[in-house]
Amino acid sequence: MIQERINKIAKEAESSLSSVQTTADLELWEVKYLGRKSELNEILKGLRDMTPDEKKIIGPLGNTTKQTLFRIFEEAKNTLAEKSIDWEKERIDVTAPGTLHTFGHLHPITLLENEVQDIFSSMGFTIADGPELETEHNNFDALNFPADHPARDMQDTFWLEEDKKSKEHHLLRTQTSTVQVRFMEANKPPFRVIVPGKVFRNEATDASHEFAFHQFECLMVGNEGEVTVATFKYVAETFFSQFFGKHVDVRLRPSFFPFTEPSFEFDISCIICDGKGCSACKQTGWLEIGGAGMVNQKVFEAVGYKRGKYQGFAWGFGLTRLAMMKYKIADIRLLMSSDLRFIRQF
Ligand code: DAH
Repeated sequence: MIQERINKIAKEAESSLSSVQTTADLELWEVKYLGRKSELNEILKGLRDMTPDEKKIIGPLGNTTKQTLFRIFEEAKNTLAEKSIDWEKERIDVTAPGTLHTFGHLHPITLLENEVQDIFSSMGFTIADGPELETEHNNFDALNFPADHPARDMQDTFWLEEDKKSKEHHLLRTQTSTVQVRFMEANKPPFRVIVPGKVFRNEATDASHEFAFHQFECLMVGNEGEVTVATFKYVAETFFSQFFGKHVDVRLRPSFFPFTEPSFEFDISCIICDGKGCSACKQTGWLEIGGAGMVNQKVFEAVGYKRGKYQGFAWGFGLTRLAMMKYKIADIRLLMSSDLRFIRQF
């Protein structure tokens, strides 16, 4: 009796499913035949009051019927979903031209930094860096800028507002030379290291001045007598010749920096006219590059080295300026602007 009822439900469900046309109809069908209050479910709920013999037959039959109904329901659902797809809309025109995807790339200054790092790595130098927000100690004191000395005014400084209680003054570093102090405090000679990095100067901007630009520091120290001015000249000539892809001469002129003694300004032979004289070098045959010198023993003392034990050279210059020379950029401000028309040329 119950068996027949179940078989009847199954037949009826199958035939009524074949006439279902819409999702709404399908939902009604689901409630009627698979829902909690469906006839089949009611029968299955009554199982517990049946005799063991009845249970043995009705239980499996009820369950397989339920599974079958569920399966045909799923099939009908898929068929309906497929029917509702607008194939015309889905059509892909494989002959249509594609969309152009633009890719980002490295900034010219970064490209240059990488190039400089490659050349120095090949000469056995390692690369160091330090924070842009620095202490007055690392930017000035340890580099032998005496307090209230006019040399501090050579570099207009962005100072941070300090808590009255703070003992240390902070600033945006005006030079990558700060990393000389950090590096030497943590390492003992001999070593050779370069430091590319961003520096800040509190000054008005024009075609050749920016308040933020990139510098590049070089520091090589060995035992007394091992690293000399001649070593500096050799390293500088090797670097610039590789960088510009042709032989470049380096010349030194006497100068002053608190952290070097003796100190020099150094020039390279003009890369445009090869030293003959042109408008780029103002007919002198030389291009000014940066500052250099033998590390002042007072700096060695400030980082905890014994006076007279070590000897080495340091140099520093604007990487930004080098980029301008290499790429013939007339206005420094272009390099830090976000003008994509400019950036995309690299
Ligand atoms: N720090 C100096 C500046 O920003 C450049 C410089 C000069 C760095 C001489 C050096 C050096 O390492 O020896 O003007």
